[in-house]
Amino acid sequence: MMTVQATKIGTNAEPADTPILEMRGISQIFPGVKALDGVNIALYPGKVTALIGENGAGKSTLVKILTGIYRPNEGEILIDGKPTTFANAQDAIDAGVTAIHQETVLFDELTVGENIFLGHAPKTRLGLIDWRQINERSRTLMQALESDIDPTTKLKDFSIAQRHLVAIARALSVEARIVIMDEPTAALSRKEIDDLFRIVEGLKRQGKAILFISHKFDEVYEIADNYAVFRDGRMVGSGVLKSTPQDEIVRLMVGRDVHDVFPKTPAVIGASVLSVQGYSHETEFRNISFDLKKGEILGVYGLIGAGRSELCQSLFGITRPAAGSLTLEGKPITISSPADAIAAGIVYVPEERGRHGLALDMPIYQNMSLPSLIRTSVSGFLKAANELKLARKYAERLDLRAAALSVPVGTLSGGNQQKVVIGKWLATAPKVIILDEPTKGIDIGSKAAVHGFISELAGEGLSIIMISSELPEILGMSDRVLVMREGLSAGIYERDGLSAETLVRAATGNA
Ligand SMILES: Nc1ncnc2c1ncn2[C@@H]1O[C@H](COP(=O)(O)OP(=O)(O)OP(=O)(O)O)[C@@H](O)[C@H]1O
Ligand SMILES: [Mg+2]
Repeated sequence: MMTVQATKIGTNAEPADTPILEMRGISQIFPGVKALDGVNIALYPGKVTALIGENGAGKSTLVKILTGIYRPNEGEILIDGKPTTFANAQDAIDAGVTAIHQETVLFDELTVGENIFLGHAPKTRLGLIDWRQINERSRTLMQALESDIDPTTKLKDFSIAQRHLVAIARALSVEARIVIMDEPTAALSRKEIDDLFRIVEGLKRQGKAILFISHKFDEVYEIADNYAVFRDGRMVGSGVLKSTPQDEIVRLMVGRDVHDVFPKTPAVIGASVLSVQGYSHETEFRNISFDLKKGEILGVYGLIGAGRSELCQSLFGITRPAAGSLTLEGKPITISSPADAIAAGIVYVPEERGRHGLALDMPIYQNMSLPSLIRTSVSGFLKAANELKLARKYAERLDLRAAALSVPVGTLSGGNQQKVVIGKWLATAPKVIILDEPTKGIDIGSKAAVHGFISELAGEGLSIIMISSELPEILGMSDRVLVMREGLSAGIYERDGLSAETLVRAATGNA
C-alpha cells in the first residue's frame, strides 16, 4: 500500500520514502539488441539521481521511454504510485516529465524564443500565440542561465555552447516535477556548468526529482545524491552516492578496475611535419606559431572561447587565416578548403561530432570508409571486404559497441557514434590529425582504449594535435602543450614536470 508522502523536502533531508516516479521491470528491445532488460529505478523529490553506465548501456533509451518517445516492451511506470503509460511525448509532458536530450533538435531558422517554446507556446485569451510572453519568459530563462542572449535572434547566429543553453532553457520552460538531463554539460564551460548546477539546486529545493546523466565523475559527485548504474541494459547497482567511492561505481559500470592513468607510451619524436608560422584570424586568434613533429602529440589547452577550435578549423581550411604560413614536410602549402587539407594529409575531427559527418542511415562500416574512399577513388574502388576489414580494425581499437558493423550508425548510442567519427578520420591514414575534445561523451572504460590507440598511432609516426579541456587528458597524453588565452599563445610547455597548476595559470593569465 502506498502512503501519502510526508513533506520532508529540502537539500538536507534524507531520501523521502516515496518516489515521485518509479520504473519497474522495464525492457526495451530493438532488432538484435535488448537495450534495457528488466530495469528498476526510482526518483525521489528533492533528489538528484545520477544514471551512470558505459556507452550503449541504455541510459538514453531510458530517457526516451520517460519522455514518451519509445513504448517499452515490458514493465511499468508509476507516478505517485499510480501506473501510467506515455503514448507520446505530450503524455509525458502532461505527466510532469521534461528532459534535456543528449541531442536536442533545434531549428536554425527559428528564433531562440521560438525554439524554447515550440510545441508548448503560451496563448493569449483570444487563442493566438503570445509572442510577448514567449520573449519575456525566454529572456528570464536565459538570464537564469547567466546568458543575455536576445530571444528574438535566430538560433543560427549562436555557438555550440549557446545552443546548448537554449536546449536547457527549452526543457526548463515546461512546468515539470521530474527533470531529466542527458549529458547536459558536455558542451558547456565550467562557468556555464556552475550556472546550470545552481539551477539544479533550485529545482531540488522546489522538491523536483532530477535524473542526471554524465560521464564526468567530478560533476556526478558534485551534484547527485543517489546513483544507479547500468551495464548492458541491466541495473547493476544503486544507492546513496556520498557513501560510495568512485572505484566501486567504476567497477559496477565496467566490471573491472580502470585507472585514471592514460596509457601514453613514449614515442620517438622526429623532424617537424607541420610548421605553423604567425597564423592569425581576423577576429578569433592572432600570431600563433608552432612546429608539430613526427610522432608528436601536441595538446592544446585553454578556456572555452580561447580560440583553440577556431585555430584548428582554419588549419583544416574551414575558415581562411588573415595572415601566416604553413609548411608541410618542408614544403610551403596553402589550404583554402577542407578538400585541400584532406588531400595534403591533414584531417580534423570536430568537437560537435553528432550533427556533422555521419550518414545516419548508412551502416557503420560504410561511414568509416567514407573519407578514405575520397582518397582512394583516384586509384579505383574499395571492395566491401576491404571496407569491412578496415572498419573492424578501428571498431575494435576504439572499443566500439555495436550489434554488427552493418547496422545503421543512427542506431548507435551517442558515445559510440562519436567513436565512428574518430575512426573514419583515422582510417584515412593522415599525416596530421587534429582531434577536438576526442573523448567528450566517451565512457571511462572506452576512454582508456581511445587514448591507447591515439598513443599507438603516434608511435607509428602520426602527428597529432589534441584540443582538450580536461587537464588529466592533456597532461597524460601530450608531449608538449600549447596554451591559448584570448586568441593568443600563452606559451608552449614541455611534458616533463608539467603541472595542472601551470596550465591553468597560463590559460587564465594568473601567472
Ligand atoms: N533506435 C534504435 N534502434 C536500434 N538500436 C538502438 C536504438 N536506440 C538505441 N539502440 C541501442 O540500444 C543500446 C543502448 O543505447 P543508448 O543510446 O540507450 O546508450 P547510452 O547508455 O545512452 O550510451 P551513451 O553513453 O553512448 O550515450 C545500444 O546498443 C544502441 O545501439
Ligand atoms: Mg546516451
